[in-house]
Amino acid sequence: MRQTRKARRAKTVLVAGGAGFLGSHLCETLFRNGWRVICVDNFLTGRMDNIVSIMDQPRFRLIEQDICRPLNLGEPVDRIFNLACAASPPRYQADPIHTTRTCVIGTLNLLELAARNNARFLQASTSEVYGDPEEHPQREDYVGHVNFTGPRACYDEGKRTAETLCFDYLRAAKADIRVARIFNTYGPRMDPADGRIVSNLIMQALEKRSMTIFGDGLQTRSFCYVSDLIDGMMRLMDLDPNPGKPVNLGNPGEFTIMRLASMVRDMTGTKSDLKFLPLPQDDPRRRQPDISRAKALLGWTPKVPLRQGLMQTIGYFSNLETSGIDGRMTAIATNARSGRLQNLPA
Ligand SMILES: NC(=O)c1ccc[n+]([C@@H]2O[C@H](COP(=O)([O-])OP(=O)(O)OC[C@H]3O[C@@H](n4cnc5c(N)ncnc54)[C@H](O)[C@@H]3O)[C@@H](O)[C@H]2O)c1
Repeated sequence: MRQTRKARRAKTVLVAGGAGFLGSHLCETLFRNGWRVICVDNFLTGRMDNIVSIMDQPRFRLIEQDICRPLNLGEPVDRIFNLACAASPPRYQADPIHTTRTCVIGTLNLLELAARNNARFLQASTSEVYGDPEEHPQREDYVGHVNFTGPRACYDEGKRTAETLCFDYLRAAKADIRVARIFNTYGPRMDPADGRIVSNLIMQALEKRSMTIFGDGLQTRSFCYVSDLIDGMMRLMDLDPNPGKPVNLGNPGEFTIMRLASMVRDMTGTKSDLKFLPLPQDDPRRRQPDISRAKALLGWTPKVPLRQGLMQTIGYFSNLETSGIDGRMTAIATNARSGRLQNLPA
């Protein structure tokens, strides 16, 4: 019988920033779900170690590239997640102009790729679009309170412009975009030295150093465990029809930084003292997501309690310590040593 059967192509998803903390968990989950995964990363803050479990798999492809340069994959792609952007203040402030370029030009390049491929697109936005909020908790219709000339603006305003681009592509029917506004997320594979509050406090406790508290420690944050966040992002990407509006993803439990520090002290058994430093400029006083939209549209609520998630994260960082990986050696330092930063476009 002369019947030609077309080989069925595995559905392909591109994860920009796939070698980072969240991106690597997302790549693994997508891979486990049968997707062919293309990871695009410039290794500014990402690490090869993060993707080692899928690195040599035939359904995985790594492209070392900055998204500020247009992408030409040479193959079709069905879905695009854009997570590429340094996420901690010391990292995104190290080269603020590149951060703005990443958020604006990088997102534009990926949106163009989505438009050319008729691919569904999800933008990893952030609670930072709300700035230092005057409304509490933050709902998606709150337009925010951002100092657009301050040191955090490259990230906050960059991400706001990225959202603008996404919704313009949607209105113009050029791409099927979704926007997840991610609140503080933590878990294994966070960079131990990138200055985020959870990793900072845990590393200081494990190394029996003073634990740094900025301001009086009474400012609040909400902490979402990484597996919950990835689940929310996957649901938003899968959602039909397109919600046409941004969706907050975060854990609504609200904790002061002092409370977090005391939990980390108890759980690590450290005797570290607390060292109080001045609050950085434009640091938000309160941060808590209203997740009613995510509940209604996605049927999503975070499941992992803070204590349980902290236990996993402390376990991860303890292993880094005992396996001899120097927690103080930052990813930027690692990349600089291997010469990767020199490959970045200006
Ligand atoms: N983790 C959080 O709490 C959180 C909260 C809100 C939003 N987000 C967003 O989620 C995304 C991922 O955050 P993360 O915590 O995994 O950070 P991360 O720094 O671990 O990951 C970012 C990844 O993007 C890569 N990258 C940066 N600039 C790039 C560029 N120009 N071209 C290509 N690759 C580039 C980095 O090398 C890294 O692998 C970011 O866009 C961030 O804004 C994260």
